Amino acid sequence: MTLEEKALQMTQLMPDMLYHLAPANLTGPLRQWHFTDEQLRCAGSVLGRSGAAYLKKLQADYLKDARLPIPLLFMADVIHGYETILPIPLAQGCSFDPELVAENAAAVAEEASAAGLHVTFSPMADLVRDPRWGRVMESSGEDPYLNGQMAAATVRGYQGDDPGKKGKIAACIKHFAAYGQPEGGRDYNTVDMSRGMLRDFYLPAYREAVRAGAAMVMTSFNTVERVPSTCNKLLLDRILRKEWDFKGVVISDYTAVEELMNHSVAADTLEAGEKSLHAGMDIEMMSGVYAASLQELLEQGRITEEEIDTCVIRILELKNRLGLFENPCKDADEALEGQLCGCREHLELARKLAREGMVLLKNEDVLPLSADGPVGLAGPFADTGGLFGEWSYMGNREKTRTLREALEEEYGTGLVTAMTEPFRRDDMPSTAEEPSPEEAPDPGKNVHTEQKSPSPDAPFRRRPDVPDAVEEALERFRHCRVCIVTAGEPEWETGEAASKTDLRLGPNQEKLIRALHDAGKKVVLLLFSGRPLDIAPILDAADAVLQVWFPGSAGADAVTDILTGKYNPSGHLSMSFPRNVGQIPVYYNCYNTGRPALDPQSHFSSRYLDCPNSPLFPFGYGLSYTTFSCHGLKIAQDASTASALVKNTGSRRGETVVQLYIRDVSASVVRPLKELKGFRRIALEAGEETEVTFRITADMLSFYNEEEQWGWEPGEFDIMIGLDSQQTEGQRVSISVIS
Ligand code: GLC
Repeated sequence: MTLEEKALQMTQLMPDMLYHLAPANLTGPLRQWHFTDEQLRCAGSVLGRSGAAYLKKLQADYLKDARLPIPLLFMADVIHGYETILPIPLAQGCSFDPELVAENAAAVAEEASAAGLHVTFSPMADLVRDPRWGRVMESSGEDPYLNGQMAAATVRGYQGDDPGKKGKIAACIKHFAAYGQPEGGRDYNTVDMSRGMLRDFYLPAYREAVRAGAAMVMTSFNTVERVPSTCNKLLLDRILRKEWDFKGVVISDYTAVEELMNHSVAADTLEAGEKSLHAGMDIEMMSGVYAASLQELLEQGRITEEEIDTCVIRILELKNRLGLFENPCKDADEALEGQLCGCREHLELARKLAREGMVLLKNEDVLPLSADGPVGLAGPFADTGGLFGEWSYMGNREKTRTLREALEEEYGTGLVTAMTEPFRRDDMPSTAEEPSPEEAPDPGKNVHTEQKSPSPDAPFRRRPDVPDAVEEALERFRHCRVCIVTAGEPEWETGEAASKTDLRLGPNQEKLIRALHDAGKKVVLLLFSGRPLDIAPILDAADAVLQVWFPGSAGADAVTDILTGKYNPSGHLSMSFPRNVGQIPVYYNCYNTGRPALDPQSHFSSRYLDCPNSPLFPFGYGLSYTTFSCHGLKIAQDASTASALVKNTGSRRGETVVQLYIRDVSASVVRPLKELKGFRRIALEAGEETEVTFRITADMLSFYNEEEQWGWEPGEFDIMIGLDSQQTEGQRVSISVIS
């Protein structure tokens, strides 16, 4: 391979670039890189397109002109489903069901591989604590252990025991690392935390996904300890390669290599290329630093050909592992794509996961719905197939059943609707007026330029709202005892670049809920969102609240299964709900501090004057149509096991999630008040009782000490078992030896 060919193997572009778009036609970030036609023809991988026919043709066209028979890698963001869209990952976390998540990921891989894809940029394993950040929807929540279980299950589902096998795709863990903790919850903002916080909370889930065999890792946009992840040797070399023994491919996030200049750790393109290569960053996504700089860096002796070869070999090994040299199109098959995408079996799996991910937050004798009398249905999610959430490009909204259709099947003419108009994107004023794109500076220069600040009166996005037609709704619902109100945020206000400072429902959304309550209706509030919203202002006006999230292709049926009682809700929160935005971040696994707010009378303790410390709804919380008790905690003499008796004390079968929490009472560094170390989904018939036992292992007690050594310290531990992170029964035990 020539040096140019090596540099292009390390470059990922949009597929259309390969159709000899004259470089002058390039748009967006690539415009400034002056790629030659030859370079555009040699990129080693492409992203963002799928479809068996298209990718087969692209691969054939690419190889036809290629000097070397090295096939293209096809990658895309199959984040929570391909054509069959799954509930968003934050909802999947609420299922506490890794096996079902793995089953669904395998179904996703079947669809995506038949559509010609080789790699998906998933799972996102970022720990999240701040719902102002729009990308919490892509994470499985605020707990390292739960995130690790979910990320590993997703990798297993996508890859099986070999991503080169038919029906499998390679997983790319992201965003390495700690992208989920941007200051102020503002996307792409600075991330800064202690090494201990990084180790104990933000890294474990990526490690579990690496242990599950993920083929790739994507670097994150943010800094870690003042060094952008994309050129961060602590992350990419010391931790990922040396400590975790990761042998796969590292890819940057979109233009993140070029952005090293904005971060001001690279004075120019050359330095950006040099630092990324030294850190072991293999593929540069959507910018031309490697293509523009490796030759000169080599000539200047700032890098070695060996470093380049190491990256190229990892890329070629991945292509070989996927069998692309023998079969460049892998599983691309139009007929199979047509059979699998959106098929009944996949929809049923998605429906099960959607049901298990929905969380019943409140229910005062109104759910499940009884069939007596007409039922009202309102709100912007009643009449739309837009139940997917962000990162669901390949989903088919038009083919998706709406909630109204699903409920009409149940209630026929007994369903009365009003105010069901969906959110309209053009209704929303854009965010702050974007600075007009300046003439792109020459990439050789520092691209950091003074960003034009938006004019002070720029139309900032207001709370997502619906037209005010409350009087009409009250008139239409005059004979309805129960009114179902769908509310929340539009899909496009979640995901990337969707940070918000106000998480309340729109004023007219709140007005409708309160007006129906004041009119004496039983209000069932269905919340469609990609994050915990600020629902405290209207919580008292709802008799029942079901957190639906964005439930995916089978979402309407899953919601109906719960409303009618066909399915007894069993979801448990993977992320705390704040009482208001001022309380953020609020999460369960916090430290005690030196002045814990234990005594309400003590003024000088860690508390607010105007708000309790506890969240509105805690991690691990979720109601059911039945009730459960958890008691009789028993810790084995040698502390090797902990068990509790769980009983269904209600009148119908139900599932719940039994959770094991541990606290290290005193150690060489502060330790959280409790940490989830195990969970078990169980189903119990009415009146049935079972004993749930957890093995206590050294790993569960371990953490990184001040010298960054992993291990545990003998002493006292609180072992707790419960059905959410607040309601637990615990015992303090002294552990000096553990098997
Ligand atoms: C985006 C996202 C990343 C995604 C990539 C490719 O900017 O940060 O999650 O996989 O670009 O679309």
